[in-house]
Amino acid sequence: MGSNTSICCGSKTKKQFVSGGEQSSTWRLFTYKELHAATNGFSEEYKLGEGGFGTVYWGKTTDGHQIAVKKLKTINSKAEMEFAVEVEILGRVRHKNLLGLRGYCAGANQRLIVYDYMPNLSLLSHLHGQFTGEMRLNWKKRINIIMGSAEALVYLHHEVTPHIIHRDIKASNVLLDSNFEPLVADFGFAKLIPEGVSHMTTRVKGTLGYLAPEYAMWGKVSESCDVYSFGILLLEIVTGRKPIERLPGGVKRTITEWVDPFIATDQLSNLVDHRLQGQYDDFQLRRILHAAARCVQSEPDRRPSMRKVLAILQGNAAAADPVKNRKLADDFAEKDASSQAISDVVAPGMIRIKSVKYQEELMAMDDEGGEEGEEDLELTRSGSDGASVYGVFGAIEVQRVSHGYGQQVVSRRTALRG
Ligand SMILES: Nc1ncnc2c1ncn2[C@@H]1O[C@H](COP(=O)(O)OP(=O)(O)OP(=O)(O)O)[C@@H](O)[C@H]1O
Ligand SMILES: [Mg+2]
Repeated sequence: MGSNTSICCGSKTKKQFVSGGEQSSTWRLFTYKELHAATNGFSEEYKLGEGGFGTVYWGKTTDGHQIAVKKLKTINSKAEMEFAVEVEILGRVRHKNLLGLRGYCAGANQRLIVYDYMPNLSLLSHLHGQFTGEMRLNWKKRINIIMGSAEALVYLHHEVTPHIIHRDIKASNVLLDSNFEPLVADFGFAKLIPEGVSHMTTRVKGTLGYLAPEYAMWGKVSESCDVYSFGILLLEIVTGRKPIERLPGGVKRTITEWVDPFIATDQLSNLVDHRLQGQYDDFQLRRILHAAARCVQSEPDRRPSMRKVLAILQGNAAAADPVKNRKLADDFAEKDASSQAISDVVAPGMIRIKSVKYQEELMAMDDEGGEEGEEDLELTRSGSDGASVYGVFGAIEVQRVSHGYGQQVVSRRTALRG
């Protein structure tokens, strides 16, 4: 892979060359003045949303191109690192289902990342946000989003060199273009994996309901953390439910806990998002549930690779296909005899979904403030000086994001110390 840099109309334009061919998209440096003008001075009305590290604004460049500008909130060493990682990684990747970089601005006190604007916003806004009532996502669109997102992860895990772990797979990071084609976004938390390294212990960053247990507990990162998060995303897409819901009385229920009884009693039609009004394909549903059940296993080594997950979803994994192999559950249970992880035999071909139990204290943390059932938890593990530390929850700084879906309020506090 090579690259060339040229000065064009006062802006630096970087073109990407991959395997001898020039990629269609290019990225360039933007000036702060230009982005300030494009977003009407980063005005509230232009605000698209707010995440853990920045606020995203809609904008229009002088040549009429619609953009989304992520303005990093704080410029400290941690944010600088996120920025550097995101720019570096986004500059490298090219895939139809990954949101590429349009450019960036690195002024003395500002860090801004520029993307193409996605008119259908994020998957989150359709499942639980401002578009919920409109039901723009029929079954076919949902399948396309699942397949495209899986392909993006196959590319990151298996095809790009060095391989990339995303680390923040969730509904708000799957954006939708005007045709509802999914584009996986936000590589700020991704990490380039050196050749021959299977996993790394590193800083935890993610959203609680999607977090693999070994990542939440020990900061242990591997591709299988993304596989776990993808399994949760699969369940979210077919059920239309949130990864963690708060029941009346304040009890928290994970999506896996909600789904499993329907599989156990062979009532699959009752777990499908009722907004679809029964318009779904039963074979596809069974494959999705099978893939999800394998993705969300608590032991990372037992989770399939994204290649395998994609094959299951496509119905190309004959031995692991709940449709073609009606004895699959028995086979799976037999191989699994030593473990209690997944052992029950239910409807033909189906395997049970076991739930990861997050620590009680962790689940309790989103009890204060915020609207009922409208919250996600984010975790950032860092030392008091901002340096990464490893270990148990005692050192985790918790960042709580209350989703008003469209308006998000972020509050930070240090929790579970001592
Ligand atoms: N390119 C884009 N086009 C349209 N909307 C976007 C774009 N990028 C982000 N958004 C909107 O802005 C919101 C906030 O995005 P942001 O990435 O800052 O936060 P997040 O995804 O909720 O959390 P995280 O910081 O963990 O990624 C998204 O949910 C989405 O609705
Ligand atoms: Mg995001």
